[in-house]
Amino acid sequence: MMQKSDNLIRKAVTYDARGLAEIEKRCFSVPWSEASLYETVSEKTSSFFVADDNGELAGYIGAYFVLDEGYITNIAVLPEYRRRGIAEKLIRSLIAEAEAREASFLTLEVRAGNAPAIKLYEKLGFGRVGVRRGFYTEPCEDAQLMTLFLRKDRIE
Ligand code: COA
Repeated sequence: MMQKSDNLIRKAVTYDARGLAEIEKRCFSVPWSEASLYETVSEKTSSFFVADDNGELAGYIGAYFVLDEGYITNIAVLPEYRRRGIAEKLIRSLIAEAEAREASFLTLEVRAGNAPAIKLYEKLGFGRVGVRRGFYTEPCEDAQLMTLFLRKDRIE
């Protein structure tokens, strides 16, 4: 079982789609399908990282980039792997990737009541920049918009 110091974060490949779908099913009420994950991982604009525990996927983060803008679509860690710093490592890997791509910011939506995720993003420097009313279904909930600005020449 993965320990706090283990470093098994790697880029996802299409072969990971089944494991990603399994994480989705166990972590979200409206999960992405294996087919759409397969397609998304293979897109050039996408950037996915997984936490790989000897062949079992413990968690993942997915994002896509448009010009100098980075959008995080999902992050999830299986319940039995939580509170060991895996999500933090996944986000740090994505931030390094965003910097390599010279992105100006990384942004995301999170359920307004998802305190663990909001705490996680705040710990890594994301700020609350807005709210989208009734954005989520099952159950209906507002989205909190959060952004991490990366470049010094950003618009303040
Ligand atoms: N309560 C409060 N803060 C929490 C928390 C919790 N249950 N889980 C994580 N955090 C915050 C803390 O600030 C923590 O830092 P600390 O350990 O120094 O206190 C920081 O996040 C890093 O935690 P980490 O161990 O890396 O997180 P994790 O690997 O357990 O994964 C989630 C966190 C949110 C990805 C995980 O709970 C999850 O998969 N949830 C379900 C899916 C989800 O909601 N994804 C977000 C969609 S936008």
